[in-house]
Amino acid sequence: MATRVFLAAVSLAASFSGVLAEDLEWCGDAQYYPAEYTCFDDSTLCPILFGLPNRPCGGGCYAPEMYQCESGSLSLLPEEDGPFKLTTHSTVTKVSGWELKACGNYLAIGAGARECNSCPEGAACDEYQNETVFLPNGEMAADLPGGQYWYVSPEDGALMFTEGGDEAEAGIALAGQRVEVYSDGFFSYQGSRHYWLACLRRLPGGTVGTTRSYRIHAPTPENLEKEDCSQIKLVASSVADRKHGAYKYD
Ligand SMILES: *[C@@H]1O[C@H](CO)[C@@H](O)[C@H](O)[C@H]1NC(C)=O
Repeated sequence: MATRVFLAAVSLAASFSGVLAEDLEWCGDAQYYPAEYTCFDDSTLCPILFGLPNRPCGGGCYAPEMYQCESGSLSLLPEEDGPFKLTTHSTVTKVSGWELKACGNYLAIGAGARECNSCPEGAACDEYQNETVFLPNGEMAADLPGGQYWYVSPEDGALMFTEGGDEAEAGIALAGQRVEVYSDGFFSYQGSRHYWLACLRRLPGGTVGTTRSYRIHAPTPENLEKEDCSQIKLVASSVADRKHGAYKYD
């Protein structure tokens, strides 16, 4: 029995050191961790930030979610001009790789985040894919008369959407404000260096639900102090048709 335990410990140690030795690679005469950098032409190392690899251009590195490189010089990507979905990217795996879902006026991610929508009898409901789709001007891809709008709450920086149907709703005046959307690129809050926070949602009383969901918040000074928030980037991906959205987001 004692021998068995010893052997298991040895092989565990061996596989750990094996992983570490493999991890460090050469790029020209520099060593790097492939989880953190990409080596181009055996000479240029570019960082992987928020899980998104930067690319080389004219001797430097750039985020292809924001710039394009032509003959060694960078220019900003065009702004998104059609319907799009949003996906999270982060080094924190539990909040990375999720599509934003609209439910109950909030945009959220995670196993516990629901997509909530409806369609009245008599409307062409089968046309809708019922995904959470945004438009660049601050509108949600919804067909409810009067529309629905996405905005950053002035109270706590949460990314929210309006109920719809009431033209006097507070969020309408703030629709799309302070956010830039690059074509198949960053969905970016002004002045935030293009990142957001995914904050674990707590139930009334402060406990965490059994299936977790995270709301998206702008990185205001107050939100940066909060526990249970992880830095994420939001990347837009174009969809062909606003009918990928819903009649109404609930
Ligand atoms: C979208 O939801 C509506 C009801 O809200 C439903 O009638 C319609 O069939 C759904 N579309 C798809 C593709 O499931």
